[in-house]
Amino acid sequence: MARAYITTPIYYVNDRPHIGHAYTTTLCDVWARAMRACGEDVFFLTGTDEHGVKVEKSAQERGISPKELADENSAEFRRVLGTFGLSNDDFIRTTEPRHERQVQEFVRRLLATGAVYAGEFEGWYDESQEEYVTETRAKECNYLSPISGKPLVRAKERNYYFRLSAFQERLDAFFAANPGFVRPEARFNEVKGRLRDGLQDVPITRTNFTWGIPMPNDPEHVIYVWIDALFNYATALGLAEPDGGARREWWPARYHVIGKEILWFHAVVWPAMLMALELPLPACVYAHSFWISNGQKMSKSLGNFIDLPTIERYVAAYGLDAWRWAMITQGPLGATDADFVPKQFHELYTAQLVNTYANCASRTSAMIGKYFDGTLPCAPDGDRPASIVPGSPSWKALVEGARDRALAHYRAFELDQAADAALSIIRAVDASINETQPFKLAKDPTNLPEVGAILACCAQGVRAAAALLQPILVTKADEVLASYGGTTPRDLVRDAAWGTLAAGTTITKCAPFMRVDAPPA
Ligand code: MSP
Repeated sequence: MARAYITTPIYYVNDRPHIGHAYTTTLCDVWARAMRACGEDVFFLTGTDEHGVKVEKSAQERGISPKELADENSAEFRRVLGTFGLSNDDFIRTTEPRHERQVQEFVRRLLATGAVYAGEFEGWYDESQEEYVTETRAKECNYLSPISGKPLVRAKERNYYFRLSAFQERLDAFFAANPGFVRPEARFNEVKGRLRDGLQDVPITRTNFTWGIPMPNDPEHVIYVWIDALFNYATALGLAEPDGGARREWWPARYHVIGKEILWFHAVVWPAMLMALELPLPACVYAHSFWISNGQKMSKSLGNFIDLPTIERYVAAYGLDAWRWAMITQGPLGATDADFVPKQFHELYTAQLVNTYANCASRTSAMIGKYFDGTLPCAPDGDRPASIVPGSPSWKALVEGARDRALAHYRAFELDQAADAALSIIRAVDASINETQPFKLAKDPTNLPEVGAILACCAQGVRAAAALLQPILVTKADEVLASYGGTTPRDLVRDAAWGTLAAGTTITKCAPFMRVDAPPA
């Protein structure tokens, strides 16, 4: 069985979960469910990033220890996973002994090869991001943080450094040989552009605070939170354990899914560290864009975060699957940001889930109920044209073509397009009902064989679409499958194939999504 490893960023515990965290994790969840249902052995990792000066400061402000703060907020992130029905296989915390001891081991190895060395450094430091910025970039940005806009400060430290500069050529060659390493492509071009400015060595330790993993050879220094955090992807599999890791077969990741603001670390620093450790590199770093809120960047000062209580109100009003649907089909998967607008959420729900998916599943099952007592009168005929439009494909070709497109899109992390391919079957079923009007034909009993033949194809189409939507609509797809012949152990290829429904199958009424009056206040 093919193994597939997918990761989210590990989230800072000094923040509360919001739409951004929910989004990245949901993307990974949908991919993980889809790949499992395609027969792959998936390992889906998420977790929390718990060290660093920000956590130390927030804890001080609240008069608690950094560990107490981390415990509290990490538990909140885990609770969120429960709320969103996320199917992660592990949840790593950077304060766990398994992580700490392996980070020290990795750093020991880097010291031994000379990839990490002790040295002195002076440069432009972005306090809000806890990272140094190159001279060129600092100048370009008017000596203001490109992320937060706050002034950069001149900083000097005696520290341990990672010899990033030594990896420029290898990174160039690797990027040239792996055009899909960073996606979307526009983001890869940004990275390559920055790489041409040249690479500076990266300080990987700090001495101005203590809340971190001590440097193994020099405990006065703590390992910089970013370096500590990146290693989570390897420590969760146990790669630096003496036995090489019980889960090492999953390495390397098929996808490290992240937001665009942390791309540099993942696309440049992380691969160079892996090169230095002689570990295989991930297949793809997928950097999505940002959710904004009513046209504005979400920020603490504006107080316009789509935060957990807000999300929970949406889930209460529309259901979890509607929330997931909006994340997947409307989210910032490409290179542009996506705006969260309540009215749009509502309209999308009504148009796609109520009027399209639910209405089609409901009217098809209702007609089978009315004209055939809920029993499919004949097997669906795949050779039948799916539309009266001349040259239209057969039902089998239409459904299996959409299935193959959906599967290819899922695999390629084009999750919005996977959803659309699945929904295209529902649109075809609707169009067929509108064209052939079985409800009119049925008025004359001699037409019943034709009505049965139409509805059998429609039912098979609805079933295939619901099967393909299982990774996104985690409960509402099963509801439809249960009405249309029953649920089975997940197998997307088989479940969405033509001919899974036989004559005599019971089809029960279903109405998976109900109308909602207005978005929550
Ligand atoms: N701890 C680091 C990541 C270390 S990974 C080795 C970190 N944590 S974070 O809590 O700030 O989470 C950042 C991630 O949250 C982003 O990369 C993205 O996945 C998600 N989002 C945060 N805000 C977001 C939006 N407004 N929109 C979409 N996702 C964003 O950075």
